[in-house]
Order: sequence, then structure tokens, then C-alpha cells
Amino acid sequence: MNFDFASYLQRDIFPIVTEEADALGVEAYLVGGHVRDLLLNRASKDIDIMSVGRGIDLAERVASRLGLLEKLVVYKNFGTALIHVDSLEIEFVGARKESYRANSRKPIVEDGTLEDDLKRRDFTINALAVKVNSDGLGTLVDLFGGIRHLEQKLLKTPLDADITYSDDPLRMMRAIRFASQLNFTIEQESLEAIQRNAHRINIVSKERIVDELNKIVLSPRPSKGFKLLFNTGLLHQIFPEMVALQGVETVDGKSHKDNFYHTLQVLDNLSNHTDKLWLRWAAIMHDIAKPATKRFEEGVGWTFHGHEDLGAKMTPKIFKNLGLPLHDPMKYVQKLVRLHLRPIALVKEEITDSAVRRLIFEAGEDLEDLMLLCNADITSKNEEKVKRYLANFKKVEEKIREVEEKDRIRNFQPPVTGELIMKTFGIGPCKYIGIIKNAVKEAILDGIIENDEKQAYEYMLKEGMKLGLKPISA
Ligand code: CTP
Repeated sequence: MNFDFASYLQRDIFPIVTEEADALGVEAYLVGGHVRDLLLNRASKDIDIMSVGRGIDLAERVASRLGLLEKLVVYKNFGTALIHVDSLEIEFVGARKESYRANSRKPIVEDGTLEDDLKRRDFTINALAVKVNSDGLGTLVDLFGGIRHLEQKLLKTPLDADITYSDDPLRMMRAIRFASQLNFTIEQESLEAIQRNAHRINIVSKERIVDELNKIVLSPRPSKGFKLLFNTGLLHQIFPEMVALQGVETVDGKSHKDNFYHTLQVLDNLSNHTDKLWLRWAAIMHDIAKPATKRFEEGVGWTFHGHEDLGAKMTPKIFKNLGLPLHDPMKYVQKLVRLHLRPIALVKEEITDSAVRRLIFEAGEDLEDLMLLCNADITSKNEEKVKRYLANFKKVEEKIREVEEKDRIRNFQPPVTGELIMKTFGIGPCKYIGIIKNAVKEAILDGIIENDEKQAYEYMLKEGMKLGLKPISA
């Protein structure tokens, strides 16, 4: 594992940091995730500079050289200072020694040495430092075997794992997030420590937890992270509804699938086709109500009737408990959960135009996403079965394309407006308007009339007269 740090530090703002650290007479280092990401050849925009003493002084001098002193944000309590230079975010901090109390993530902080600072970090791969002073520019400091662990793709804590995780329980989520994001292995001792400390995740704020959770969701193969969350017991603390999906029951020799592992497979399948966070969340949520709707019916077997509707109903509370946004993303996930069986159902039925039209109408602009979710939902141990289903599903997709071209239902705008109805029948706002509008919409979706102004007008006249209204011009 190699990287030419000396050359790297002669670019961008680094020469100014070098000069100012030299002038102040303090040792300064590039530390943390940025060093790790350079070695892994990953993009990263957050730069952490740690100096042994006078972190804020160094930040002020660098900011002033850049003409950005006014833009420097100083957090006196944390002893840190932050500036943005173009798209880079640079944080300065003095080397620290920290000790933690049992009931809080907030440490008691004192000035410390380089080693004090590095050993209080979460993982050895994040505890690497590169010297920024001119004397020794680019020298890598690796006190805990971080380079070896990067090569071995191993997550290991610099200190005893129980201390590192109980000092800051968010690190348990970070361990799993890095494992999932980078496809690394968590050292056995660490895994056991996470199991022992999982309950302590409760002292961490929802926002921090869900930030890490979303990074797991967005990782290349999210099932890796979710299996680790499950096996360590963290998932039980943060998302019990998902844990409830796990398990297989057998009655009269008939078993249902394990919905936890099925959900993870759907999530992985989908992740091969999309990086959209909320679409991935729809995969996580699609069967969430299966445990609550599960029945064994004589002669039928296992059923989960209505799990799509109940799942949609459960979504707001689950999002709230997790600290996920309750506006548009939640509504989008809710919609996909509610509709997730519809395209599959079309495979089994004789595909009628009107069933397809209704699906297009209800899914609207989210139709492509729904189809991606449904494709990903076709899982089975039997490869033949999957192939057959996917082929049938292609037919549904073709049919959708066909109906869509013909009927322009996607962004359906009713061809008769409430105003037109009032004018035609000489009435004011009343319940008849809704009834007539709905009847016209239903007739279009059922294929009784086309999505066409003239046909809709005729139909409106007929419906109005059925209700006892008379067109004023007639
Ligand atoms: N760190 C830590 N414990 C935490 C958070 C951070 O020890 N709970 C340390 C690590 O050394 C980390 C550094 O602080 O590398 C910077 O943290 P942060 O910017 O949050 O994470 P990165 O490691 O940079 O990773 P990413 O940018 O992917 O979040």
C-alpha cells in the first residue's frame, strides 16, 4: 500500500499549512479518513489537520493567509475550527486526550500528545497520520498497524475493543458501515465487543445512527451491513420491525421463506440497478408487515394477506422512530410498499388494458422505480422459476409500454374540469362535481371511453343527467 504523500502535500492549500505550522513551531499532521481514503484511492473532501497544541491558532493563521479569516468557524468548546476552501472542508484540531463517562458520548477533553490522539480514534485504519511540517514532510506515522490492516481489509480498534466502543457507541455503527462500504472484515474481538455493547447504542442520537444506517443502505452490497447489524444485536436496538422478519415457521410440512433474508436479497438485487436511497428503502420496507399478517390457512398454506397495505400504514411510524424524513421520501416509500404486489399480480392474470392503465395511473412518475423494485422482488432458490417469472414480467413491461403510448395515462389530467361541469349544468360547487369527475376518470381507466376531451364531455353529460341534472344550453 503506497501513496506519495510528500508530493500530495505540495499541492492546494497544504504548503500554507506547512509554512504556518513551521512558523508557529508546532507539529502538524494530516489525519483520519482523508489519509485512509488516499491510500484506498477513494475520493474524499473532508480534510482533518491535527497539530500537537494550538489547533485553533494554526487554523486562524491559515485562514488569514487564504483571506478567509471571516469565514473560519471556531468551536471553542471542542477546540476545533472549520474552513471551506472551494469544495474542500478543512477541520483543524489540537491533539487530544479524552476520557469518557458511562452515560454520555461527550468526553472530558485535555491536550495530549500525537500518540494520545491517535489511540483514542476508532479504527487503526483511521489512526494514521502524515506529517505536514517541512521537516519530515509526508512521513507516515502508523502506531497501530493501520497500513497492514488496510491491506488485510481488517477493522480493528487501536485500544481494547470494549473501551473503544463503550467510549463512543456510535463507533459500533461505524464499524459495520465501513465493513459494508469498503467490504472489510471486522476483527472477531471487535465483533464480540459490539455484541456486548449493542445496548449502549441507545445513548447515541437518532440522527447520528440513521446517518450511518443510510451509508450502509447505500453501500455496494447492503446485505453485508444488515447481516452484521442483525448478528451483533444492533438491529434489535434500532430497527426491531426488521428483526421480526427473520425466521421460518413450518406447519404440516409447509414452510414460508425467511423474510429477513429475502428482504436482503431484494435489497442487493435492487442495489445492482440503482443508487437511489429511497428506492433502496422501499426494498427494505416492502414486506415489513409480513410478520403481522402471517396466517396458516388449511388447504392453502402460508398467507400474508394485506401486508402491502399494512406495510404502507406502518411506514410513517417506522420512519419517525428511525429519525428518517417524514415528508416526500416517506410518502414515496409508502406508495411503493402499497403497490409492490400489483405488477407481479399482472403476471398471473390475463393482462387487461384496464388493469395496466390503473397501475400506470396510480404509480404515476414512480412507475419505473416500482418496476425495478418488483423485478428485484423475484427471488427463489429455484433458478428455473426465477427465469420463468422474469420472462413473464418482461411481458408485463411490454404491455405497460404499449398501453402508455396509446392512452397517455401517466400524468393524467382529467379532461373535464369541475368548472366545465358547473358551467354545463348551471350549478355551483357541490358533491355532484366530484361524483361526475370520478365517473369520467373511472370510465377512462376501465376503457369505456378514451382519454379524449370529446368523449369525456359526452360521458359527463350522460352522468350528469343520470343524477337528474340538466345541461343549461339543452
Ligand atoms: N473518529 C472516531 N470516532 C468517531 C468518529 C470519528 O475516532 N465516532 C475519528 C476517526 O479517526 C475518523 C476521524 O475521526 O477517521 C474523522 O471522522 P469522520 O470525518 O466522521 O469520518 P471519516 O473516517 O473521515 O469517514 P467518512 O468521511 O466516510 O465519514
